[in-house]
Amino acid sequence: MPGTSRRQLTAPPSPLPLDIAAIEAGLAALALGHPLVYLPSVDSTNTAAQELARAGTPDGTVVLAEVQMAGRGRLGRAWKSLPGQQLALSIVLHPRVPPHFLVMASALSVAGAIETVTALRPGIKWPNDVLLDGRKLCGILIETSADYAIVGIGLNINGSVAGEPTLAGRAITLAEVLGHEVSREALALDVLRRLGDHYTRLNADPHAQADLREQWRDQLVTLGHEVTIAQGTQRVTGIAEDVDASGALLVRATDGSAHTIVWGDVE
Ligand code: BTN
Repeated sequence: MPGTSRRQLTAPPSPLPLDIAAIEAGLAALALGHPLVYLPSVDSTNTAAQELARAGTPDGTVVLAEVQMAGRGRLGRAWKSLPGQQLALSIVLHPRVPPHFLVMASALSVAGAIETVTALRPGIKWPNDVLLDGRKLCGILIETSADYAIVGIGLNINGSVAGEPTLAGRAITLAEVLGHEVSREALALDVLRRLGDHYTRLNADPHAQADLREQWRDQLVTLGHEVTIAQGTQRVTGIAEDVDASGALLVRATDGSAHTIVWGDVE
């Protein structure tokens, strides 16, 4: 209208909440997500999933949160919440295979879902960070007990991490790469579809383990590079030559010694 000044937006619009009805409808034909437990705010979806697992929730239960107040990362670290912009979900499983196959299956599922939904091709940093151009898009925390395993997935989708001092330069969101927002619902559904397929096959088919390891190995960006593995205060530097059958990283140190790394942070 001539002469009418429009109010300037000084802050970006609030993100829309997850469309849980759409996710539930998409999960109807899938192996995981029955039930789907949606929590607008929670300390950690992994902790909530553990509590449900102890109370006997069915195999494949998915806990999904909009905001985590105390998200947990690997090696005792905190996982920063980007309210309304991330995916933060945890799945309760009762696998018949060792947990390292869940490590492989979950990283492959996230990388595959990102490729399907965005056409980007992320890589996997050993053991299960999903990266783009060396920056972390997704972290995965797998916690096991004698009776169950929890697969926790945190995926940076919309918004920006540029203003987060602990993340800037090391992490990135899909929206920062693409320049537009991405459907969190589409990503959640494709991650769960892929992970459910891997899980069903792993539990039923003895050949699935070797196939999965091969797929995971092919997407590891760590292999062939010089790495430093941090294990607490210890460091091992060398070339990441390969992974063994259980997914351990085989590193040839600069003094020629061979190291089989089963845990730690690749720097
Ligand atoms: C890491 O890279 O250190 C793993 C991060 C895992 C974060 C996810 S977010 C959903 C689930 N709940 C948690 O508390 N942690 C995992």
